Amino acid sequence: MVQEKQLIGAISAGTQSVKFCVFRSQETKAIAEYEMKISSHCPQEGWIEQDPLEIINAVKTCMTKVVEQLGEQSDKVIAIGVTNQRETTIVWDKTNGAAFYNAIVWSDIRTDSTVDIILSKVPDANPHHFKHICGLPISPYFSAFKLKWLIYYSSDIKQAIRQGKCMFGTVDTWIVWNLTGGTDCGIHVTDVTNASRTFLMNINTLNWDPVLLHTFKINENILPEIKSSAEIYGYVHKSFPLPGIPISGIVGNQQAALIGHNCLREGEAKNTYRSGCFLLYNTGTAKVFSSHGLVTTVAYKFGKQPAIYALEGSVAVAGAAIKWLKNNMGFIKDVHETETLAKEVFNTGDLYFVPAFKGLYAPYWRKEARGIICGLTAFSTKHHIVRAALEAVCFQTRDILEAMNKDCGIPLNKLMADGNLSQNTLLMQLQADISGVPVFRSQTVDVVPLGAAIAASQAEGIEAWDLSQEGRQVVPNDTFLPTSTENERDARYTKWKMAVQRSLGWAVN
Ligand code: G3P
Repeated sequence: MVQEKQLIGAISAGTQSVKFCVFRSQETKAIAEYEMKISSHCPQEGWIEQDPLEIINAVKTCMTKVVEQLGEQSDKVIAIGVTNQRETTIVWDKTNGAAFYNAIVWSDIRTDSTVDIILSKVPDANPHHFKHICGLPISPYFSAFKLKWLIYYSSDIKQAIRQGKCMFGTVDTWIVWNLTGGTDCGIHVTDVTNASRTFLMNINTLNWDPVLLHTFKINENILPEIKSSAEIYGYVHKSFPLPGIPISGIVGNQQAALIGHNCLREGEAKNTYRSGCFLLYNTGTAKVFSSHGLVTTVAYKFGKQPAIYALEGSVAVAGAAIKWLKNNMGFIKDVHETETLAKEVFNTGDLYFVPAFKGLYAPYWRKEARGIICGLTAFSTKHHIVRAALEAVCFQTRDILEAMNKDCGIPLNKLMADGNLSQNTLLMQLQADISGVPVFRSQTVDVVPLGAAIAASQAEGIEAWDLSQEGRQVVPNDTFLPTSTENERDARYTKWKMAVQRSLGWAVN
């Protein structure tokens, strides 16, 4: 029985910020929310770390502020969902709750050499060797490589593992452990979506996999228990606002966006445009193992219902290229200027920018690729380069769509879009023109918290959101239709592929 107009909270811990939002069941717009920026530290080139305590303090502050906004209504909050930046790795001491090291963020590439060690152990150094087990290619992106690095370089962690007091978690696990009482009575859990990004979970059994644990020499007792994305895991501890409220949803943020977009049926897909770009295509209960460089991941699993899978194309650098133009090149003072600047030219003047700052993720998975700008002439201006940076986001998305079409056999006819960068209207039109697919931009910039609230509301004992055909409400969209011809877009895409080859080739020379 669906309960009427109850309130559901969502903690959304992304790479850039932490947010707490509260939704009325069945409504897609939050009635209260508070957001705080999270700082990142780069102690060395390619390293990105965050302070795990800053994340927890931000969760607490955001919850406090929202409870203040809600006043007496806060009594109506019946459940909380957690969604998070995925793969980011934290290791802590369960006896005192202190992290042994900063969180190693998903986009950190310090584990290049760990990747080489693993590659050297598999036949033909095939990066897809474990794909049939975990759905993922061997890449510094995934948590197991970061965890192995931490264990190798920290004698404190090695010792804590021997003493049985070390805990590993992705950001969801860290938040839920603290939120449920930490050293007092914290619960050590994760969900299938987050576990599917660690490189340690078997995508077929949804359990930690013995072969992968052996490969990385990881002791299972430091790992959290894998749960579904919607069930009551525990209750908010008295040291946090909303004490006693059940925590009933955990889902990685890109999967949460898929849910928030209501892409709950097979064949539906969304792309979230933020510092990276993550395109997820719902494949239903079928696991599709990509032959074209995509990742097989769990989209969600609501309680005892079967797991729903997705094919994912992850792009490491999307909005991050725009930030680079601002911070490193000084081309713009504010990221919002890109649209005006790029519109001042009709095209890029045949210029292509491959922002492979951290290698290339999907569908190439080449950690040694590097950024490249091709086609510069004496007439090129910063306007052309800014426009090429926007186009790079769209071309990388087209790379993924091409791979998805080949893997699934049915071309996608609609792409849902969200994320800060999707506010750039020129980018959305370029996306439709470059991919030839209509783009539906969500009028809610960030649908991730909504997805987490929906997941939390699906747990047995909560059941606060009707997702049936009749019951569901969806976030309104703006539509961008392709205005290019197939010949035009294919000609430009061919040039993009030539630029990518040069970016990959840089590694070889
Ligand atoms: O896989 C990384 C993804 O979860 C990143 O999250 O917050 O940077 O969009 P965010």
